[in-house]
Amino acid sequence: MSVHDQTARITVPQIRARKGGTPIVCLTCYHAHTARLLDNHVDVMLVGDSLGMVMHGMETTLGVSLELMILHCQAVMRGSRRALVVLDMPFGSYEESAEIAFRNGARAMKETGCTALKIEGGARMASTIHYLTERGIPVMAHIGLTPQMVQVMGGFRTTGRDASEWPALEADAAAVAEAGAFAVVLEGMAEPLAAKITARIAIPTIGIGASPQCDGQILVMEDMLGLNPHPPRFVREYAHLGPAIEAAVVKYADDVRNRRFPGQENVYAMRKQSK
Ligand code: KIV
Repeated sequence: MSVHDQTARITVPQIRARKGGTPIVCLTCYHAHTARLLDNHVDVMLVGDSLGMVMHGMETTLGVSLELMILHCQAVMRGSRRALVVLDMPFGSYEESAEIAFRNGARAMKETGCTALKIEGGARMASTIHYLTERGIPVMAHIGLTPQMVQVMGGFRTTGRDASEWPALEADAAAVAEAGAFAVVLEGMAEPLAAKITARIAIPTIGIGASPQCDGQILVMEDMLGLNPHPPRFVREYAHLGPAIEAAVVKYADDVRNRRFPGQENVYAMRKQSK
């Protein structure tokens, strides 16, 4: 990877400077071909640990390893030149101590060339966010519904519907901003709270199921493309690739079973002639 490739990408300060400005367009991305398609149209590609569920059929994100994240992030980096690529630190790779988070995070950045890391957690992760940013690792924080806490929460549910939850979530947002995060994902958060947090903190908020009031939005790409048979309720499907793929496979299977090879006849004809 050349220096030119690195400097051509959207930078962390550029994203940070979009606070209150043109909304930041983010999507998850896990592989090279889709990275190439997204690259000119999004600001941030997140190699999210949701890939455990989306790409590998896991029930939760808890089984995702750092090695798996690195492999997918390398693919996304190879497929892109422009967007800022963020690697999502998986469960167990950063929570124990700031030092372990730095060691694993630095490895992820060295092996992938990505620009930044995302970690889940608010006030409880603030000292780690500070430690990482002070040492050269830009951090995107993630608060509200944090899927790596699924077993503690007993499932996934929208946060902030009950006003009694607001003070803790507002404190989380303030803590990660103060600690040096350059942006914060607000996942599964009631709109009035997401709006309040967005108005109060100095860094961009990136919403997922948290209302258009945020400074940017992120979706899981496969959800918005119609590949998830059970997408979350807040997802708008911009394409219906699931049915389109199935229809294509049905046609292909029919061709194979009927010994039709559309487009390949000429190749076989030329080979026969040259013998
Ligand atoms: O893992 C992921 O894809 C995420 C986004 C949903 C924010 O964390």
